[in-house]
Amino acid sequence: MFISFEGSDGSGKTTQIQLLADHLRAAGRSVLTTREPGGTRIGDGIRQLLLDLAHTEMHARAETLLFNAARAQIVAEVIRPALAARITVLCDRFADSTLAYQGYGHQQEIAELERLIAYATGGLRPHLAIYLDIPPAEGIRRNRGRADGDWNRLDAQELSFYQRVETGYRQLIAQEPERWAVVDATRPRDEVHHDVVQALQRKLPALSQSL
Ligand code: TYD
Repeated sequence: MFISFEGSDGSGKTTQIQLLADHLRAAGRSVLTTREPGGTRIGDGIRQLLLDLAHTEMHARAETLLFNAARAQIVAEVIRPALAARITVLCDRFADSTLAYQGYGHQQEIAELERLIAYATGGLRPHLAIYLDIPPAEGIRRNRGRADGDWNRLDAQELSFYQRVETGYRQLIAQEPERWAVVDATRPRDEVHHDVVQALQRKLPALSQSL
């Protein structure tokens, strides 16, 4: 089973993935958690290129290709082999991030991005994408308050950019509601976790048999 987590920066994806992984493991499942961009040696190298604050000249198309190069690598090296071994894969962001950020946020053409994503993934898509729903301004506030000083080039965007990204996610969800679960992520983390588990039970009965 392949599940991605999507949402604005600062929506708490990392925490929720960890909580869900613990929950599934306690129920006896083998679980792999990973993230995009990154998750492989090559992907982590690409991640450094993408996040580097010095790379102010990076062209939007170069950025898009780098995200998808990292994606092609993680699909081939990590995700497909894990799924073949019946491991549940939880991924912090996947191709929907490219549609939301590069497509709606940076206003690149969606149809072109869809072709590129299909090439990078060989058509692999998550069985379920969990959208952690938080107003963009709240996400930015949380992100800037982070103690780890993890500020990077991709965080340096205007609020209007994040609003377009949010609008984009809502369109993606409206187009394919069966592929998404929307969870209100403004609440305390344990309540959000509870809703994530419930969403899984509703959407993926095969997975929830072992919950
Ligand atoms: P990351 O440090 O992983 O933060 P977050 O907690 O927000 O996930 O940064 C990833 C950034 O890359 C984030 O701003 C979203 C962006 N991104 C894209 O623009 N396109 C993509 O395809 C992916 C996977 C991420």
